[in-house]
Amino acid sequence: MTGRTPFAAALVLAMGLLMAGAGFAQSLPGPHNRPAPGNEAQATPPRDAGYRPQVNYQLECSGCHRVDGQGSRANDVPRMKDFVGHFLEVEGGREFLVRVPGVSQSSFTDAQLASLMNWMLTSHIAGDSTPDHFVPYTAEEVADLRATPLDEIDTTRDVLLQRMRDQQIAIRDGLADRP
Ligand code: HEC
Repeated sequence: MTGRTPFAAALVLAMGLLMAGAGFAQSLPGPHNRPAPGNEAQATPPRDAGYRPQVNYQLECSGCHRVDGQGSRANDVPRMKDFVGHFLEVEGGREFLVRVPGVSQSSFTDAQLASLMNWMLTSHIAGDSTPDHFVPYTAEEVADLRATPLDEIDTTRDVLLQRMRDQQIAIRDGLADRP
């Protein structure tokens, strides 16, 4: 008990000082904080920055999907590397790729998203998985797909994977042992 007393006293003192000093809940950054010299400009949101599709991918997709599209089993993020293009070979797959929340709810414009998807599906991420007959997405198509939210994501995805199996396409999405 005696060992705790100085600590308790210090705590009461600290709380008293906080309440007396500030008088309101402290928010960070505080109302009087200023940027460091040379750092005054606000960061440009990715949507307004005019970056190339691969940079947009790094900014809003790679956090989950990783830069090379490997995904993350531990976080249930599927592997897109050398696999994602196979969705284009089954009925409903083309629509699904844009309607998943990570894509449809990103900050990008329809045109930026169309470019991003077209880049991704013809880049090292999709590898050879994209069929030769792939027709690039247009901004209009992306706009329509985004307007229809996807409920039942897992169920829809499972149906598409089954359609792939039916076409002898091996499921290499990195989630095979999902419970
Ligand atoms: C917060 C994590 C996260 C972010 C950010 C994210 N995704 Fe995803 N993505 C997922 C998960 C998880 C799935 C699996 C389906 C689902 O549950 O939404 C997925 C599925 C996909 C799919 C369908 C492929 C499949 O195997 O299901 C595509 C294509 C895709 N994402 C592209 C993107 C793109 C492009 C971006 C950036 C604009 C992005 N994602 C951002 C987590 C994310």
